[in-house]
Amino acid sequence: MASGISRRALLAGGAAALPLAGAGDRASATTEHAATAHSPAVEPFDGVHQAGIATSPQAHAVFLGLDLKPDSGRDAITRLMQLLTDDARRLTQGRPALADTEPELATDPARLTVTFGFGPGLFRAAKVDSPVAPLPSFSVDRLDDRWSGGDLLVQICADDPVTVAHALRMVVKDARSFTRVRWTQRGFRRRAGAGSTGETQRNLMGQLDGTVNPTDLDRAVWIGQGPEGMRGGTTMVLRRIRMNLETWDAADRPAREFTIGRRLDTGAPLTGRAERDEPDFARLNTLGFPVIPEYAHIRRARVEDPGQRILRRPYNYDDGLTAGGTSDSGLLFASYQADVERQFVPVQRRIADGDLLNEWITPIGSAVFAVPPGCAADGWIGDRLLG
Ligand code: HEM
Repeated sequence: MASGISRRALLAGGAAALPLAGAGDRASATTEHAATAHSPAVEPFDGVHQAGIATSPQAHAVFLGLDLKPDSGRDAITRLMQLLTDDARRLTQGRPALADTEPELATDPARLTVTFGFGPGLFRAAKVDSPVAPLPSFSVDRLDDRWSGGDLLVQICADDPVTVAHALRMVVKDARSFTRVRWTQRGFRRRAGAGSTGETQRNLMGQLDGTVNPTDLDRAVWIGQGPEGMRGGTTMVLRRIRMNLETWDAADRPAREFTIGRRLDTGAPLTGRAERDEPDFARLNTLGFPVIPEYAHIRRARVEDPGQRILRRPYNYDDGLTAGGTSDSGLLFASYQADVERQFVPVQRRIADGDLLNEWITPIGSAVFAVPPGCAADGWIGDRLLG
């Protein structure tokens, strides 16, 4: 929503409470109100691309990593993907899965999306050339096997945690005879519509996280070339990054803002006034030092060509407290890009080579997947790759 007035007015009871707003404001506030009250909470399943990537992020997510049972070949993977596609198609549209043991839980899809990714191991098992290779190791990595790798990724997102839990259970049940669970990682972010509409979410370090993302997804995210089976698909990197919130708490506000190169309150670059202002990386302070430090996260992570940026769609995680009373939390950093090697790896390498943020964050899990394109109403995810 464009105007603060209409937002306040809405909170106070909708368009009727808008004496101060102009006609334009009133119109947009009314539409907004209607959209919030009646918008169908259904995301399409069939299509050129899989849902859950360009979809405006839902509040809850679970990432499920599955390993194929030994000796699963292309036939078993095909049956598995036909089954899981059918589950996903039904559940996302608010219909129970076949043999749904709790069909009542399927009636509120809450913008449910179910997105599938294939790891290098799945392609090996299917005897098909893999479009993705395992990531190289980075100096900052302290990876734990229990959060890493996987043959098949199922990303389940919805605005309601009950919907997520139900979809997860149905998927795991149907995948059971073909796979074993390698990991599940649960994440959350502010529900849609919290704060002002379109406002960037905050991560658990308190920063606005998600300001700079590509807008031209056809260039940056969707694969347009190469083997037919991946066209319209993408690749996904999932990194589990622990935050040391205790030492972060000890850093003062200027240090925190230097670390990123942006202000905590507005998310504006240290050289600007508003979140969307372009950072001025050349500007020096009166002492002759860069206003945005050499090792600030946004300088290290910057990719100048917007068509080469990665699409970040992160979720927070918080698995409670350790025995010592420190928080076990961080970021489920999920990024989508047409080409892992060309887009993700150089950014991660620059961050690993020197980034002030490394003082407080540690990657403890890592996985990479090829995300096949979407499918037609009578198709299944991966049909053009494996069929
Ligand atoms: C816990 C770990 C991380 C935290 C807390 C974090 C936080 C942030 C914040 C606050 C921003 C500025 C606002 C924005 O544009 O979203 C940002 C930007 C960015 N981050 Fe991270 N980040 C993390 C890890 C990573 C990783 C692992 C990568 C990639 C390998 C990455 C890539 C980027 C990129 C590409 C930008 C945009 C830079 C620009 O062009 O301005 N971040 N991050």
